[in-house]
Amino acid sequence: MGGMERRDFLVGTGLLAVAPTAASAAPALDWGAVRREFRLDPTLTNLGLFYLASNPREVRTAVEDFKRKLDANSHDLMPEQAQEVAGALGQYVGGAADDIALVPNTTVGLSIVYGGLKLRQDQELLLNDQDHAWHLQAAQLAARRAGAKVRIGTLYENSARVTEDEVATRLRNSITPQTRAVGITWVQSSTGVKMPVRACAQVVAEANKDRKQEDRCLLVVDGVHGLAAVDDDAARLGADVFVAGTHKWLFGPRGTGMVWVNPQVGNQIVPLLPSLTSRSETAALGPGGFHAFEHFYGVKAAVQFHQRLGRTRVAARIAELATRFKDGLAEIPGVVIHTPRDPAMSAGMVCFDVNGKTGDQVVALLEQKHIQITTAAYRIPYARVGTAILNTPQEIDRTLKEIRAL
Ligand SMILES: Cc1ncc(COP(=O)(O)O)c(C=O)c1O
Repeated sequence: MGGMERRDFLVGTGLLAVAPTAASAAPALDWGAVRREFRLDPTLTNLGLFYLASNPREVRTAVEDFKRKLDANSHDLMPEQAQEVAGALGQYVGGAADDIALVPNTTVGLSIVYGGLKLRQDQELLLNDQDHAWHLQAAQLAARRAGAKVRIGTLYENSARVTEDEVATRLRNSITPQTRAVGITWVQSSTGVKMPVRACAQVVAEANKDRKQEDRCLLVVDGVHGLAAVDDDAARLGADVFVAGTHKWLFGPRGTGMVWVNPQVGNQIVPLLPSLTSRSETAALGPGGFHAFEHFYGVKAAVQFHQRLGRTRVAARIAELATRFKDGLAEIPGVVIHTPRDPAMSAGMVCFDVNGKTGDQVVALLEQKHIQITTAAYRIPYARVGTAILNTPQEIDRTLKEIRAL
């Protein structure tokens, strides 16, 4: 497992750690070599890879190494590794290690945030009809305990034609002095819409202008389908809280995730569970007890893998494949695309309908052709494709051909 082997997929001159500012300025990547780092089923065209990550070789190796150490003597826990993971994630999202808590997944992260938020009976949590069911439940459970309310808004009329202005205006009109938190989803798994987080943050900031700290409205982002799919610093989007599983687009070990909290609002969230660490206010939000530590420690290898690929190149590849798929769909009679065509309002998820067929029927028919897609099962069950960096233009074209044949 030498360095040479690991950097094979970087075409050219053994460039190891690159952080290019524009896709065009970056050296090319051998995407086929990247894919060979994964143990994917070679007989399957898998356009649902975002679901629960497959791990590249170096992540599997890191997990195995930590596992071997813990098997040898479980008293040799490595708390400094957890700190290194927080450091690596902090670097990747543009935030500080101390503002990151390690959690097992997005759902638990959101539950800890809403459940720990100091929330009065007269206050409310404002989410919207495209947030994930578990995000809504996390808010509802927290509100139920506090005797507070959850209100579900609608932030756009039509997902395919959504604009930043529309979302900002609707959000501005929905926030009341009682709104203690606004929950949104960076990239919606129900529609593929990439929400304009910065514009939402602006609206929330305006609403907060004359508020006291205990009345302040927090912007909470479920970022699981944006992390390692969108080229942006998650901690600098203007949100107060950013939650994401690291076991989806980042290719981290299964059962891992992160919460980032704006240090200015850290004292507004009380830990819900005992923690293993008191390193910082936010780190202490990470649930304690013993975990599958080898998985948590392995997250650092996933971050390093992505840093070598380059976030810009990763996001550009995901967008290129998604655009290729949308352009192809647009030429098929009877297909309706529910995701914006504009890459500024979308990322790696594409939702669509085929006339006369349910989403589940489309999934089942493609399965017969060894093509794995999914539906957005918790909302309107549109057929849904995710374009990962492990997918190829040929897979996209093959899938389009089979959809045309439906
Ligand atoms: C938008 C969104 N949020 C949250 C989740 C839950 O993620 P996790 O499994 O990391 O809890 C999912 C899907 O699994 C999702 O699509």
